[in-house]
Amino acid sequence: MGKWFPKLYDSLMSPLERRGIQGVRKNLIQKAQGKVLEIGSGTGLNFPFYLQAEQVVAIEPEPLMRKQSLLRANKSRVPIEVILTGAEELPFLDNSFDTVVGTLVLCTIPDPQKALEEIRRVCKPNGQMLLFEHVKVNHPVLGRIQDWMTPVWRRFCDGCHLNRNTLEIVKHTGFHVRHIERHYKNIFVVIEAVNRK
Ligand SMILES: C[S@@+](CC[C@H](N)C(=O)[O-])C[C@H]1O[C@@H](n2cnc3c(N)ncnc32)[C@H](O)[C@@H]1O
Repeated sequence: MGKWFPKLYDSLMSPLERRGIQGVRKNLIQKAQGKVLEIGSGTGLNFPFYLQAEQVVAIEPEPLMRKQSLLRANKSRVPIEVILTGAEELPFLDNSFDTVVGTLVLCTIPDPQKALEEIRRVCKPNGQMLLFEHVKVNHPVLGRIQDWMTPVWRRFCDGCHLNRNTLEIVKHTGFHVRHIERHYKNIFVVIEAVNRK
């Protein structure tokens, strides 16, 4: 990844955050309970919204993103540590976490299926997974535009795919999806799922 992406990430997100994404984060993140794993925590935009968690272990493979997130981790109401690693091979024991959180991240992870299998492994039976993701829309024109834009978008936005069928991948991995909420013309989706083992 170029250094410019982590440096500009908060500024690029700021207009979207003000137009509603921050509200979606807040509603979702405050549901995280117990020992929490956050995958691909970026600059820590979710950190201020952890209220009920006992402890948050965040993972982030990009050193500059991690460094920026430490400022937010230090100000958080709950203890947060940020480990420099990726989601496809998690350095945690089986059944370690009550909640797993991911926001705007399964679009970027090179192997989302593998990451979700790892999440299932480290998440306790009946533990919850809380996701907020952008996905491929079920609309013939918009969906095709997402396909068409993805190769260029990926190059400039840190490997982000505009056209991932994340909900299908989540279901395929064996999670029980208990709640779905669609936002912004169905481009964004909140997924709350239970880890049925
Ligand atoms: C678009 S940013 C989202 C950051 C943050 N979750 C948020 O909501 O603002 C995508 C993040 O995924 C991280 N990422 C990329 N590959 C990853 C991987 N294999 N495992 C975990 N995170 C990854 C990137 O470094 C980046 O911080």
